[in-house]
Amino acid sequence: MNLVDKYIQQFRNPSGFVGRLVGINMNFGHQRLYKRALNMINRNNIYKILDIGCGGGRFIQMLSKNFPSAKIYGIDYSETMVKTTSKLNRELIERGRVIIRQGSVSKLPFSENSFDLVTGIETCYFWSNLSNDLKEVKRVLKPGASLILVNEMHEHHDKNPIVEKLLNKVDLNLLTTRQFYNHVKDAGFTSIEIETKGNLIEIKSIKPIEDIT
Ligand SMILES: C[S@@+](CC[C@H](N)C(=O)[O-])C[C@H]1O[C@@H](n2cnc3c(N)ncnc32)[C@H](O)[C@@H]1O
Repeated sequence: MNLVDKYIQQFRNPSGFVGRLVGINMNFGHQRLYKRALNMINRNNIYKILDIGCGGGRFIQMLSKNFPSAKIYGIDYSETMVKTTSKLNRELIERGRVIIRQGSVSKLPFSENSFDLVTGIETCYFWSNLSNDLKEVKRVLKPGASLILVNEMHEHHDKNPIVEKLLNKVDLNLLTTRQFYNHVKDAGFTSIEIETKGNLIEIKSIKPIEDIT
């Protein structure tokens, strides 16, 4: 396997020295996605936010700037990413504004009805069981709170051939807008909004107000 392939395969679960480089690079390469996610947030009453698959931690930093009265939680199953995010956000962690945990989206270490907002950037392609994992996300959201997912790629008829070649190496679970809609709906979310722009896909949905898990 050549170096480029080794690097690309780290996206799923970055580890070691190369994993750390991947995390730091994503912090720069995903800026456009972070900004799009921020623009999707309804800013009222946001006091507790969870970013799943927090990677290198730059989005956590941006969330903390944009929501100065909120406490920001980050979770990632990669030990290397937990360390990288924690290093970048050390001061915020020391001040108690940010908390980073190691763990999987499939079993979130948080109680029911905890968060005003959950975000996931470029991560849900790697979740082992999207429908179940979305239900787990819903469990920790407060009723009426939003889930925001942003992915740089989705399955569609006009995929860029370079992207396609890359995908074969990473083993991403790439979904169409319809498949995404069905998964999010099956998990019990409501007000599902899905937008695409070229390869990019944005998904916003809400835990029903009457859903006290
Ligand atoms: C491509 S990176 C994106 C990182 C970050 N969100 C960003 O946009 O810069 C995907 C991240 O999701 C994490 N991840 C993948 N599957 C996960 C799971 N099941 N539970 C928690 N984290 C997961 C990986 O470890 C990795 O850090």
